[in-house]
Amino acid sequence: MMKNVPEEIKNYLMEAHQLAKQWHLPNNRGNYSNSESIPIKCVSVIGGGTMGRGIAISFCLAGFETILVELNEQAVSNCKRELEITYAREKTFKRLNDSKTEKLRNNLQITTDFHKLENCDLIVEAVFEDMKLKKELFTKLDKICKPSCIFGTNTSSLDLDEVIVESSTLHDRYIQMSSVLRNPTKVVGIHFFNPANLIRMVEVIYGSYTSSQAVATAFEACNAIKKLPVLVGNCPAFVFNRLLGVYLNQSQKLMYEYGYLPHKIDRIVTNFGFLMGPLTVADMNGLDDVINFLLYPMVNEGFLCIEEGIIDHENLIDIMFILGFGWPITTGGPMKLGRLQGIEKVANTLILWSSLEPNDRTYKIAETLKQANQKNLSSKL
Ligand SMILES: NC(=O)c1ccc[n+]([C@@H]2O[C@H](COP(=O)([O-])OP(=O)(O)OC[C@H]3O[C@@H](n4cnc5c(N)ncnc54)[C@H](O)[C@@H]3O)[C@@H](O)[C@H]2O)c1
Repeated sequence: MMKNVPEEIKNYLMEAHQLAKQWHLPNNRGNYSNSESIPIKCVSVIGGGTMGRGIAISFCLAGFETILVELNEQAVSNCKRELEITYAREKTFKRLNDSKTEKLRNNLQITTDFHKLENCDLIVEAVFEDMKLKKELFTKLDKICKPSCIFGTNTSSLDLDEVIVESSTLHDRYIQMSSVLRNPTKVVGIHFFNPANLIRMVEVIYGSYTSSQAVATAFEACNAIKKLPVLVGNCPAFVFNRLLGVYLNQSQKLMYEYGYLPHKIDRIVTNFGFLMGPLTVADMNGLDDVINFLLYPMVNEGFLCIEEGIIDHENLIDIMFILGFGWPITTGGPMKLGRLQGIEKVANTLILWSSLEPNDRTYKIAETLKQANQKNLSSKL
């Protein structure tokens, strides 16, 4: 993977790996050096859909006792059928051999019986993206699982600290997501990327109540299955999907507002080094503009995440996109690309675009870029 990668980018990514390990929660709530994971022997994945199957495969192959829980017998048989399809595909790509497949067939337990989770150390729920459903599930599991069990959620967008106001004529009642547990400090986001058995990147998300022990346990579990966990704060869509959202939004604009054809946008982006492009472009002129239009708002969104305290370092955003999205490694990731091209240039371009579309949320300019723009203007005076 590192072939042809410039030395500077290699060092930068090695530094990102180190920074990812040195996680810390705000307000002295604990960090990597003073927090201990609970010992994990048994992991349960709830929901055997796209994500749950990939997550369960990862834990089972790493030697954990792995229990996958589905809704009903029909869902169990769908899950088993889909797993067989995955095993066959992975064998074709030589990522799974016969002995590993047999290990999965023999050891991965698939059940509808939640009571089998009594001794489970870590739950990773991957049921539908529905807050009410996830809360009901955690309420049920809290009565079954042992007190030390950590509750991971693979949600890609739901707010760990969501407050629901239940109206009544006399009082409003506020209910937080984690409050459904007897001990809300045990809830932690463990956001795998699809396909979860292959992609090495994981976002670990802390909410207002998440304990450092829950974070340490999530990190330990991810490391054991050879993933790279990165700690991020709780906000809509977290970090990876926030940047991805603006990228996809820009590609839509290229099509609908600037008249580019989808296959051309794709070709430009793949020529830039991505494994796949979002869409396409009609004109072979001005390709760099196209790339900047897609990528500069991601740099901005990354700075916003850092300024909001959602994530600590630019490197960590970059490693997410290299491992999680197939970002062309030679450019070092979105934030490094912005630095290499010059953040003054990124700032000036985005400020111009924001003046053209002042109400577009994509162009809410990060302070870091505003300052870079100011510095650039002052140096010209
Ligand atoms: N698909 C992705 O690319 C992706 C990526 C990252 C995170 N996520 C998140 O992962 C979660 C799962 O997504 P998915 O794409 O795997 O969904 P999916 O629809 O493929 O699978 C969900 C599974 O959960 C099962 N389920 C529902 N309620 C259940 C219950 N009460 N008990 C046990 N099983 C139950 C369903 O039968 C289904 O098999 C969501 O929160 C989603 O936002 C998805």
